[in-house]
Amino acid sequence: MTDKDGKSMPNEREPGVPSRDAPVTTRPKEPPTRRAFLTGATSLFGAAAAHVLLAPFLGHAANGSGDPTRVPGALATEYGRRSPFERAKRLTKPQRSRTPLQDLHGIVTPSALHFERHHNGVPLIDPAKHRLLVHGLVERPLLFTLAELKRFPSISRLVFIECSGNSGKEWKGPKGKTVQEIHGLTSTSEWTGVRLSTVLSEAGLTPGAAWMLAEGSDAAAMTRSLPLNRVLDEALLCYAQNGEPLRPEQGYPLRLLVPGYEGNTCIKWLRRLKLVASPMMTREETSKYTDLMPDGTARQFTFDMEAKSVITAPSGGQRLKKTGYVEIRGLAWSGRGRVEKVEVSVDGGKNWRTARLQAPVLPKCHTRFCLDWWWDGGKAVLQSRCIDETGYRQPARQDLVEVRGTNSYYHYNAIQSWQIDEAGNVRNG
Ligand code: CO
Repeated sequence: MTDKDGKSMPNEREPGVPSRDAPVTTRPKEPPTRRAFLTGATSLFGAAAAHVLLAPFLGHAANGSGDPTRVPGALATEYGRRSPFERAKRLTKPQRSRTPLQDLHGIVTPSALHFERHHNGVPLIDPAKHRLLVHGLVERPLLFTLAELKRFPSISRLVFIECSGNSGKEWKGPKGKTVQEIHGLTSTSEWTGVRLSTVLSEAGLTPGAAWMLAEGSDAAAMTRSLPLNRVLDEALLCYAQNGEPLRPEQGYPLRLLVPGYEGNTCIKWLRRLKLVASPMMTREETSKYTDLMPDGTARQFTFDMEAKSVITAPSGGQRLKKTGYVEIRGLAWSGRGRVEKVEVSVDGGKNWRTARLQAPVLPKCHTRFCLDWWWDGGKAVLQSRCIDETGYRQPARQDLVEVRGTNSYYHYNAIQSWQIDEAGNVRNG
C-alpha cells in the first residue's frame, strides 16, 4: 500500500504495525537525577503541592541516584492516586468542567475527569438520608431509600453522556482552540443501577401516564419531562460509576441515566419521579434547551444526541514534532445506537479513508477510532465523520447550518477540521 507520494504505508487493518522506516522511537528517557526530580516536581506543582504529592516517593529523591531499583518504593495506600508526573485535568468554569479528551486512551473516562455541568453547584448529600419519591399517575406512590433501590436486580452498561451545549460556540464558526475546550462536554463511564421500568412496575403505572418529570435535589432543583414510551426501555437509576459509588459531581448518591439523550435529562441527585399525562414545561424545556431555528420557531424536546466524531490527536494546540508515521486517533458516538463506520480525511474532505474501530463497539457509547497516516511535512486538514447504524452521517458544517441556521447553541455535531501547517502546528479551522 502506498500513499500519493509513493511511500510505503502501514496496512490499515493491522493495528500497531508502523512501517519499517517509520521513525517511531521508543528509547526510554534517562532516569531523573535527584536534583532534576525535585526541581522538576517543584516547577510542575509548586513547592508546597510537590511536597504533598511526592511525599510517598521521597525515598527515591533521598537516595540521590534517581534509580528506582536502588531503594524500596512507596507503600500500599487505601485509596489510589495517579503518578505525580501525570497532569491531565478538567478545564473548569464555576458550573462546568470539560474532559481532557486529548489526554485519554480507550473509551472509559476516569471518573475524576468526567465532564461536569451543574446549574447551582454540587450538593452534599448524606446517602442514608436520601429518598426517591415516585408519585403522580401510579397505583401506589412509593418512597425509596438507597438501600431499597440497591436490592433490585442491577444492570451495568458503558454509556456516553454528552451535554447538548457541547461544541456550541462553533455554531458561530471555528472559535475554540483545543479539543477539550470545544468538545470536552462528553465522557463515557460504566454506569450501574436499576432499570427505571423495574421501579415503575413496583409503583404500577395508571392509564394516562405518558410522561415523567424527573427532579434533582440540587439548589437549582433541576427538572426535565421525559416521554415514557421513549425512556422506559433503557433508562437506569444509577448509584455507581466505573465500579464505585457515583462521584458527587455526577449525582451522588443517585442519578437518572437516559442513554443517547442530551446530558441534562440525566437528572443528578435524583429525588423525585412524577408520572404525568403531558410535559410539565419546566424552565429547562422552555427558556433553556430549545433550539431557535432560522424561521423564528424553536425546536423543543430535542433529546437525541446525533452521531458525532472528533479527532483527539493530533488536535488543536498540539504540534507534530517530526514527519513520518502518525496514528490519527479519535472518538465517535451516536445517541441513536452503534457507530457503524468512521471515515477520516487528511485533505479537507476531498478523499476519505475508513478508520479502524477499536473493540468494543457498543451502542450509545464512545467508540475509539484510529488511522495510520504518514505526515510528509506539508499542509493538511484532518477531518473525521461518523456514520451510525441508522445510516445517519455526521454533516459538514455548511450542511448543518443550511438546515438549522446559526441561532442555536445546542446540538452542534458538524465535522471538526484541524488545520496543520508546515511547522506541524494544529489549529481549529
Ligand atoms: Co435538545
